[in-house]
Amino acid sequence: MSRGCAIYPGSFDPVTFGHIDIMQRASQLFDKVIVAVAQNEAKHPLFTADERVGMVTEAINGSAGVVVKKFDGLLVDFAREQNAFVVIRGLRAISDFEFEFQMALMNRRLEPRLETVFLTPKEDYTFLSSRIVKEVARLGGDVSPFVRKSVSNAMKEKFLQKS
Ligand code: PNS
Repeated sequence: MSRGCAIYPGSFDPVTFGHIDIMQRASQLFDKVIVAVAQNEAKHPLFTADERVGMVTEAINGSAGVVVKKFDGLLVDFAREQNAFVVIRGLRAISDFEFEFQMALMNRRLEPRLETVFLTPKEDYTFLSSRIVKEVARLGGDVSPFVRKSVSNAMKEKFLQKS
């Protein structure tokens, strides 16, 4: 039985163990998972879209059925292009709910075929976010429990360049 294709969109600036956990869960539910890295230049990401794609590609480590793509513009347009109408989002806590709810309903309004599926990460990662990991890294804290070594090194390098 085909379980179809899902898109897991995000900024992934940078990818954390929380994201990787969601990718693994999604890949058990769907035949194909497209991890969609939003260019999101308006958010002034620390890493370029290509750097983020590189880090996600390394993180998925050839997992069967998982591919990484970059997208710009509306998620619904990307979903139509890919002919994939399930969107995966991680829900960590109640605080995520309001924004996720708005986004899911707006996306559905823009493309009624699009369904959002929320997955919860392993409890250990429920407090993790790229934003908080970047702050800890910027201030010299140990982020090794939260991101891959290569990501932690890349953050160090970025913050060194910026200082
Ligand atoms: O990891 P993030 O920053 O929470 O991901 C947010 C993302 C990239 C999924 C969201 O901002 C998005 O879908 N951006 C694409 C533009 C778009 O479609 N915006 C309208 C969504 S309601």
